[in-house]
Amino acid sequence: MEETKRENQKNLFYRIERLPPYVFEEVNRLKAEARAKGEDIIDFGMGNPDMPTPEPIVKKLIETVGKPRTNRYSASRGIIGLRRAQAAYYKRRFGVALNPDSEIVVTLGSKEGFINMAQAITSPGSVVLVPDPSYPIHSFGFILAGASVRRFPLGAGEDFQDAFLRDIDRAAANISPPPLALVCNFPCNPTAQTADAGFYKELVALAKKRGFFILSDLAYAEIYFNPNAPPPSILEVAGAKDVSVEFTSMSKTYAMPGWRIGFAVGNERLIHALARVKSYVDYGAFTPIQVASAEALNGPQDCVEEIRGVYKARRDILTDSFARAGWRIPPPSATMFAWAPLPENFRAMGSLAFSRMILKEAGIAVSPGAGFGDGGDGFVRVSLVENPQRIRQAARSFRNLMKARGAKGAAREGRGARSDQTDKASAH
Ligand SMILES: Cc1ncc(COP(=O)(O)O)c(C=O)c1O
Repeated sequence: MEETKRENQKNLFYRIERLPPYVFEEVNRLKAEARAKGEDIIDFGMGNPDMPTPEPIVKKLIETVGKPRTNRYSASRGIIGLRRAQAAYYKRRFGVALNPDSEIVVTLGSKEGFINMAQAITSPGSVVLVPDPSYPIHSFGFILAGASVRRFPLGAGEDFQDAFLRDIDRAAANISPPPLALVCNFPCNPTAQTADAGFYKELVALAKKRGFFILSDLAYAEIYFNPNAPPPSILEVAGAKDVSVEFTSMSKTYAMPGWRIGFAVGNERLIHALARVKSYVDYGAFTPIQVASAEALNGPQDCVEEIRGVYKARRDILTDSFARAGWRIPPPSATMFAWAPLPENFRAMGSLAFSRMILKEAGIAVSPGAGFGDGGDGFVRVSLVENPQRIRQAARSFRNLMKARGAKGAAREGRGARSDQTDKASAH
């Protein structure tokens, strides 16, 4: 009785009801249970950067904390020094000129910027296009804001960009009311797919033709492994600012996830809308954090090179050692994730049952692909957040599991729990 009452109370709120339970929850619960029993879990689950923040950035923070008035409320849209530093970054990295007064807002991490942008631009009945699979916030940010989210397949393979453009064109032509916005994220969490400048050019043309905004999430701008092909910004396209904003983050580039600094830049109307919502919501990040972030952007960038190098080394060790253990994982060309198709023997069981199995039987935690949308179910996401020794240890455990279960694995397991038993929003 008490239980039913509590259950009913949980369902009282309109917005909360619209957030489905969490696909990652079961794996997280099993992980916590195993750890409570003293088991060693090798955790490739969360995209939570594990490297220390580079020393000069930390030093600048400490130095600034001691200064007068830094304890006061800061500026909700970000201190001007940090907005200028972001403008200089866009100029030198992408050749894009931004006005720090009207085209840049500092956010409390790019996630907060995205969520408040959704709040700022959604009207009752707004429809937003989001690829499937995607980083959960891309759909749930808009669901929280009250929009209708239409998922469309992100696609795979060599020509996924063409299919993506075709699908959007078709969707935008057929949806009523026409979509307010499209979310795109390249390099992509979770799939690690990348987009080129030609793709963005066509996407911007399409947005103009069909009248929607583009929200580009460029959180992995600097986590790429081919030095000859750094990911482009959508704002490099002439006229992109008419219809686009882009989100970037200090979290991955400088290993600063807990500092909570990101940016939204681009279209003045959208940036103004976001700044206005934020002016009611927050007083900006703690000033010393913003000063240290400006130092990060303005200072020498060897630390970014080093961070890239660490992820790249882990990527190579992961793909080599798991291939030897019998699981071929395609090497990502960017991001801190490998998007791994379930090994053939286990394909039929689905990503959640597979994740559960390798956690229980090999002590390896990954994120089930179903947590990123139904289109992710044949995959798991493996974050590059463990050190080489632990990655090799995981590969050895996996090889033992393969040996023990062999080809009979999948048939016994069935498809397991459905993907609607989870809480997607805290996936990193
Ligand atoms: C694609 C993507 N966007 C945004 C974020 C959030 O980053 P931030 O720490 O800047 O809020 C993440 C974090 O994992 C991400 O993967």
